Amino acid sequence: MKIINSISEMQQISQAARRAGERIVLVPTMGFLHEGHASLMREGRRRGELLVTSIFVNPTQFGAGDDFDCYPRDLERDCALAAAAGVDLIFAPTAGEMYPVGYQTWVDVEKISLPLCGASRPGHFRGVTTVVTKLFNAVLPHLALFGRKDFQQLAVIRRMTADLNLPVEIVGMPIVREADGLAMSSRNAYLSVEERRSALCLSRALNDARQRYRQGTRAVTELLAGVLAIIGAEPKGVIDYAECRDAETLEEVTTAGDDTLLALAVRIGTTRLIDNCLLGEEN
Ligand code: PAF
Repeated sequence: MKIINSISEMQQISQAARRAGERIVLVPTMGFLHEGHASLMREGRRRGELLVTSIFVNPTQFGAGDDFDCYPRDLERDCALAAAAGVDLIFAPTAGEMYPVGYQTWVDVEKISLPLCGASRPGHFRGVTTVVTKLFNAVLPHLALFGRKDFQQLAVIRRMTADLNLPVEIVGMPIVREADGLAMSSRNAYLSVEERRSALCLSRALNDARQRYRQGTRAVTELLAGVLAIIGAEPKGVIDYAECRDAETLEEVTTAGDDTLLALAVRIGTTRLIDNCLLGEEN
């Protein structure tokens, strides 16, 4: 498995693959890969001939005070996981390659970038949409896969791809969880043993809300009251947001339906975790 650092070399490889009639699949990541990423890669392997994973901890999607400097990195381990999942090429540019001196162009999706993570992390999605556009231009994929744990990110990227007529099919993949329900995330590595246990309040709150929904509760205030009670009972958990929104537009809803998104961001100690579900989904 080859590691490419240069954008122009990546483009040349992708252009040759396209000329040979190959379908190029991209799994964009920030590294410190886990089983959630591996599930995207395995699906990507099924869907194309050239499977590329990008590993780039993108500085422009981190705000001041965010965890850019200490974000976990382990390229050697990532390469082993990617190779085992069938990846052909790792695209791992440097920050200087992606944002050279004089860089000044941004991609900004307006409305659906504003609530939820957009409200608590101003500028975050501008960094995401900019880097994803640049990764698309470097790798020239036919298809790109993203996890649904970052539900808003997926919605924003779908909007951007449609609005800019980018010729890339966007595929969203299910959240992968640990056996006890914790959604897989590179940031789980920050959790102490005690915090790891506390972090289960996110999936517990989501499961409880889905159960109440199945039993007939439709008032969002009532569903959220249950969520707040479960997370509030966890001394280490501080809610950043807990909201119900339309899964497509991300607009607020007051009455829940099968396609209502329940999205959570919770600080467990100093680690900010996100998780979500659709209220009507079985599991
Ligand atoms: O989800 C991520 O890991 C990142 O936000 C992404 C899509 C790779 C962009 O840096």
